[in-house]
Amino acid sequence: MSAIVVYKTKYGATKTYGEWIAEELGCEAVDVKNVKIDDLLDYDTIIYGGGLYAEVINGVTLITKNMEKLAGKKLIVYSTGLTPMDCREYYETLVVEKNFKHGEMEQIRMFNFVGKMVVSELSMVHRTALKALKKLMSSKENPTEMEKLLIELCDADGDFCDRDSIRELVEYAKEV
Ligand SMILES: Cc1cc2nc3c(=O)[nH]c(=O)nc-3n(C[C@H](O)[C@H](O)[C@H](O)COP(=O)(O)O)c2cc1C
Repeated sequence: MSAIVVYKTKYGATKTYGEWIAEELGCEAVDVKNVKIDDLLDYDTIIYGGGLYAEVINGVTLITKNMEKLAGKKLIVYSTGLTPMDCREYYETLVVEKNFKHGEMEQIRMFNFVGKMVVSELSMVHRTALKALKKLMSSKENPTEMEKLLIELCDADGDFCDRDSIRELVEYAKEV
C-alpha cells in the first residue's frame, strides 16, 4: 500500500494529526501548499485533512473537485474541529452536506477529530468572527441545543488534540 497524508492547517491542529497518522502508516505528511493533484496519482491511499471553519473542511475541494481523477483510490478525509465527537448529527449531516455532493461519500470515508483553539493565537479576523457569532447566538430568545453549544464553543481555549483518536483511521487505511 502506498499512502500519503495531505493537510491544510491554520493553527496547526490538522498538521499535528497528519503527522501522527503519517508516523503510524510510515508515509509522508505534506502541506497542501506543496502538492498538486497530479502528485497524488502515484498513491493508492490518499488521506486529506482540514480544519473546520463554519462547517467547511478547509481545502477539501482538492479532493471533491477531482473525484474523477481519483477514481479507484482509497480516499480518506479527516476534519479537526471543536464540536464534540458525540454530536454525530453535526458531523454526519451538517458537515457532510456542506462539503460533499450526493454520492461522493460512497467513495470517501470521513473521520472527525477534536482540534485546538488557543485564543491568544487567533487572527484578528477570526477573533472578531467568533465574537460576532457569540453575540448573534446569545441574542436568540429560545436558542436550540446546537446554538447553546455554539455559544460555549466560541469561548473554547486550549489544545484538545488526542493521538489515541486516530486509531480507527489508521486501521482503516492499513486494510487492503
Ligand atoms: C473562525 C472559526 C470558525 C470555526 N468554525 C468551526 C466549525 O464550524 N466547527 C467546528 O467544529 N470547529 C470550528 N472551529 C474550530 C477549528 O476547527 C479548530 O480550531 C481546528 O482545530 C482548526 O484546525 P487548524 O488549526 O488545523 O486550522 C472554528 C474556529 C475558528 C477560529
